[in-house]
Amino acid sequence: MDSNLALEFVQVAELAAIAAARMIGRGDADGADQAAVEAMRAAFNQMPMNSTVVIGEGERDEAPMLFIGERVGTGEGPVFDIALDPLECTNSVAYGKPNSLAVLAVAPEGRFLHAPDTYMEKIAVGPDAAGVVDVTLGPEENLKNLAKVKGVPVEELTAVILDRERHEELIQRVRGMGCRIKLITDGDVSAAISTSTPGSNVDILMGIGGAPEGVLAAAALRCLGGDMQARLAFRNDNERERTIAMGTDPDKVFEIHDLAAGDDILFVATGITPGDYLDGVNFSDSGCSTETMFIHSATGTFRIISAEHRFDWSP
Ligand code: FBP
Repeated sequence: MDSNLALEFVQVAELAAIAAARMIGRGDADGADQAAVEAMRAAFNQMPMNSTVVIGEGERDEAPMLFIGERVGTGEGPVFDIALDPLECTNSVAYGKPNSLAVLAVAPEGRFLHAPDTYMEKIAVGPDAAGVVDVTLGPEENLKNLAKVKGVPVEELTAVILDRERHEELIQRVRGMGCRIKLITDGDVSAAISTSTPGSNVDILMGIGGAPEGVLAAAALRCLGGDMQARLAFRNDNERERTIAMGTDPDKVFEIHDLAAGDDILFVATGITPGDYLDGVNFSDSGCSTETMFIHSATGTFRIISAEHRFDWSP
């Protein structure tokens, strides 16, 4: 990908993050989401490209902007598919909690799984355990296999799990193995990434979260060398039918390459509130600072881009 264009994707995520950050702690989840969506959409539409949102805010009838199928860019230039979440962890912004991100992933056409905004059962690990886990097995088998390949006792592993009622049994079974648990209130994109970032002390992500977040996490892990398996978890028949209508097998066990394929994936995430590996947006009198993770699967280079934005700058 052209490096100027790649940098423009960084700016898109930064602008969405800054817009959302103005809403931190205001208790207005929808307002924060709207601000991030509008900023991201406006920034995309300045870019010389002819791209399509394939993982977005929802299908056209549900989401007014950045809906699945929406064309973004000036209409001229390279063609990409884009997976995005202008505000991952809406409640974390609304209530001033950690790990919210403005996220996007970019690839040539046809590389991301087409999935509606349903749930997904996920299991994700770092590069040292690629190929070891199996979403169709119970947590006991997966933890034993993971411990074996890492050469540590199961008690030395840390699993990250969303703190939800639906995970009560999973949490009990993981505790039963003596494994440590990092329970998170939100943010399984960040959590999946933490399995593959050195120093995070997280070994595995398990449990059910959003399907769009699953595709974004897979894109990031493809760039970091981690691994993931997933299957869709429907709340009703309508979600299953919408999945079939999108051309996706509703019962398939997805490997990481089914979620995000090819060798030319770009993953970009800007911190909104401070997180495990990215600072949030910090405002000053004349501007603000941002931190953005920028990873490209072609090289695997992991960059954190710090930026100072000047609101008073008008050349
Ligand atoms: P939103 O920004 O859409 O609220 O997503 C936050 C999140 O925690 C995701 O990281 C996760 O995949 C999903 O919610 C889990 O959904 P739920 O909150 O319904 O359990």
